[in-house]
Amino acid sequence: MTIVSEDTLLRLIQTAKVASARAYAPYSKFHVGAVVVSTSGRQYSACNVENASYGLACCAERNAVFQMVAAGERQIACVVIYTPTDRVTAPCGACRQVINEFGSQSRIVCTCEAEERIDTTLDQLLPTAFGPHNLT
Ligand code: THU
Repeated sequence: MTIVSEDTLLRLIQTAKVASARAYAPYSKFHVGAVVVSTSGRQYSACNVENASYGLACCAERNAVFQMVAAGERQIACVVIYTPTDRVTAPCGACRQVINEFGSQSRIVCTCEAEERIDTTLDQLLPTAFGPHNLT
């Protein structure tokens, strides 16, 4: 698991919170912010973006991963997620699969307005994952 100090983690949570405030979620009203930290230490934050054609919504986590890839990076160290709710939200199945592609061992920290946290790893969230190794 990637070691991130509590101070750094608090800053990442703040960044995810700022991202969640930018969510475009007029249909679900469920605002999500995510920050991907690559193994180089750079940070990529994003929010969920919905659409009047509901099925086209894209989650905050996937938007953040795609920003990392578009910036030329391929390895996720850590993903921090924030929702302005009383309970934490873990990444959906599609996001787990996408995170797995670039960080099967990455640390996943889910946070919310309350103190509650999920602090885990992608392989715990998606055991026996299908991934690039299956296609070689
Ligand atoms: N959502 C995320 O952004 N991340 C998740 O892991 C779960 C769901 C978004 C998608 C949609 O815009 C809203 O939350 C409700 O599902």
